[in-house]
Amino acid sequence: MDGNGRWAGKRALKRFLGHQQGAESVQFVVETASRISLPFITLYAFSLENNLRRPKSEVNFLMKLLRSYLVGNVKRMNDNNVRMEYIGRICELPSEVQDTMQWASEATARNTGTTLTLALNYGSRSEIVDAARSILTELIAEAHQRGCSLEDLIQVDGLEARLDEHHVSDHLYTAHMPDPDLVIRTSGEQRISNFLLWQIAYSEIFITDRLWPDFRGIHLLEAIQNYQKRERRFGGLGETFTDEDLDTLEPAAEVAEEIVTELSPKQLAPR
Ligand code: FPP
Repeated sequence: MDGNGRWAGKRALKRFLGHQQGAESVQFVVETASRISLPFITLYAFSLENNLRRPKSEVNFLMKLLRSYLVGNVKRMNDNNVRMEYIGRICELPSEVQDTMQWASEATARNTGTTLTLALNYGSRSEIVDAARSILTELIAEAHQRGCSLEDLIQVDGLEARLDEHHVSDHLYTAHMPDPDLVIRTSGEQRISNFLLWQIAYSEIFITDRLWPDFRGIHLLEAIQNYQKRERRFGGLGETFTDEDLDTLEPAAEVAEEIVTELSPKQLAPR
């Protein structure tokens, strides 16, 4: 949801109005997601860093805006079969905000269409730290229950059986969700900004210069259409790469020689 401040700045408006307009975009985009049966959409609404580094007045405004957005849109969420969920260090948000969040997620819990996940007070590195802490806590509890030391517990099954990629994924805030296929970054920013670092290892990225308050359902569809043209390889060679292609690859020794003769720096001509 990047570009709210710039959207307001371009119109000589206060940043707050950019956020207000940004909140409007959320509903348009989510309703389009629901219409095309997108199972999950996750919005990076408020990072841990936003919480720590933005002026208190802006943070307070965002919290109020979030509450009024939730109160004002639960009916539309239900009309559109959208379920609300959250990821992040929610317990650090003001208690009245947490109450409204819980109310909205309970009020939409029966919906079976799109799940809208708001990342709030979210940071990916802290999510990974939280996952590591919870794995460790579980192991300690199990050792305690079995009356042995942590070291003994790990030695019985081996460390590989106790800790692998599945264990880490299962302890992230997103354990119940698939990894994202597509990350859309608005306002032309070309960085990840601590968003779902583990989960987006193989996600496709779509960057648009459009500022979030100008982003609508049609732009979501454009991004998806662009994504559909891509070939995802997950580190492999991809579907279009055949054994015949392999046969036609130049032998490595020939390529190496070509590099030496064609690309090595030419001798400096005498002055
Ligand atoms: C990024 O714009 C946006 C935010 C930091 C906050 C977005 C949060 C809300 C609109 C609160 C309500 C949330 C929902 C889901 C309704 P920016 O301020 O970083 O913009 P800039 O990069 O142009 O300065």
